Amino acid sequence: MPARILSAALVGLESKIVEVEADISSGLPNFMIVGLPDIAVQEAKVRVRSAIKNSGLSFPYTRVAVNLAPCDLKKEGPSYDLPIALGIHLAYEGVIPEISLDSSIFIGELSLDGHLRKINGVLSIAMMAQRNGIKNIFLPEENAQEASIISGLNIFPLKTFSQLIKILNKEESITPFKSNPAYFEREDDLDETFSLVKGQEYAKRALEIVAAGGHNLFMVGPPGTGKTFLARSIISILPSLETSEMLEVTRIYSVAGMVAAHKPLIQNRPFRNPHHSSSAAALIGGGRFPKPGEISLSHRGVLFLDELPEFPRAVLESLRQPLEDGVVTVSRVAGSIQFPARFILIAAANPCPCGFLSDPKQVCRCTPHQVLRYQKRISGPLLDRMDLQVEVPRLDFAKLTQENVSREEIARIKDKIKRARQIQTARLLGKGMLENSEMNHKEISQFCAVDSEGKAILKKAVEQIPLSARAYYRVLKVARTIADLDQEEKLKTNHLAEAIQYRIKQMGD
Ligand SMILES: Nc1ncnc2c1ncn2[C@@H]1O[C@H](COP(=O)(O)OP(=O)(O)O)[C@@H](O)[C@H]1O
Ligand SMILES: [Mg+2]
Repeated sequence: MPARILSAALVGLESKIVEVEADISSGLPNFMIVGLPDIAVQEAKVRVRSAIKNSGLSFPYTRVAVNLAPCDLKKEGPSYDLPIALGIHLAYEGVIPEISLDSSIFIGELSLDGHLRKINGVLSIAMMAQRNGIKNIFLPEENAQEASIISGLNIFPLKTFSQLIKILNKEESITPFKSNPAYFEREDDLDETFSLVKGQEYAKRALEIVAAGGHNLFMVGPPGTGKTFLARSIISILPSLETSEMLEVTRIYSVAGMVAAHKPLIQNRPFRNPHHSSSAAALIGGGRFPKPGEISLSHRGVLFLDELPEFPRAVLESLRQPLEDGVVTVSRVAGSIQFPARFILIAAANPCPCGFLSDPKQVCRCTPHQVLRYQKRISGPLLDRMDLQVEVPRLDFAKLTQENVSREEIARIKDKIKRARQIQTARLLGKGMLENSEMNHKEISQFCAVDSEGKAILKKAVEQIPLSARAYYRVLKVARTIADLDQEEKLKTNHLAEAIQYRIKQMGD
């Protein structure tokens, strides 16, 4: 009789139940896997056969048929090794284990000697199991801590395939995994970079607004003025993730295979800094077995693109849609999938190839044509999405020898940002949004009402800078954040004026 084992598939960040059926029948030795398996699943044949044999069990010398249902769902990756091996063993031996196979999920990659290797996406699988009322998950030992993030499941960590068979035969006992609460304790983030940045008050204020409302920032200035340093320092003032955000972020890292086995929950806001030689797929996501790219790994955190004009223009252009929607759509043969990508974009650039165009002390050696070509690498539409654009000038000696920013001052800024975020979250409650930067037209008209004086300032900006319609709405969102930092319910003229001053264009085509 065929054996039927439950397992799980990953589709983007989502998981779905997969039934693994195994049947043994007489005939010439043959091993077939059907049900839309990809190459890695086909290769399971080699691993499963060796793992079963090397576990001291016998592999049938007849026809072995394995079906992965539903058939229309593409099965990818090596996580089906364990349920396939178990299905074949149970069908061949004709045993029925005492645990309920209908409420247990089996996942894991097998090595040739029968050991289990960790797999990706376990958090998504555990969430799906909980939703579907599955009671037990049998998985590789290294994935146990991650699965235990989700409560209410019996998690059974396995070292080897033979251990699983002994457990099912009641030759070995096992108690469900108890997670170590120490692994989930909050670490206090003590990054001090912000305190070391001298001068650059204008850029630091911009960073404060960016951290409070989740807006994008573009810094332009000569080399060595602290642009890279400033960008990194945002870590010191960003509040840590809320619990729901931790799960969102960890799920992405889990699918990308980037969580630590012993400390799987990601608690701090990500800060990603991809090099300009990164491929479009690495940045945006994709591949044959689609993985989240840098923009998704920056979800709820920061994506820092240093030396922005050095990135290939096509790569930069592909950022436009995710910057607008907060999600990225990765297309592939079997339909497209979406990954979240709600990040703060911080970009830095020199004003020209030599870097000294805006420097009062050093002469720029670039020709006007070179400057134009360099600046044209960043398109207008991308620049439009940079909510705050600041110049980072050379520091004079007095500023360089300034005292560091005190701990108390940083604590005060951090506290202000935290409170501004709380105001936003409360205001946007029920809309599926957390930060001002996420607001759409509807929320903007609801929460960014401007009086006649404010309208006059905005009119001037739209006509003189000039501001595009998109930039106009972005200015309103930034003004909302500035008002929230002041804990003001109404948008005042000073909030609007400050938001507009960050839109004075410095480069781009
Ligand atoms: N405002 C500043 N305050 C303190 N140190 C600075 C500042 N600006 C630059 N530095 C120092 O100079 C180094 C180079 O700065 P960097 O951020 O790489 O400049 P840029 O990216 O603008 O070329 C930094 O690592 C830091 O040590
Ligand atoms: Mg730099």
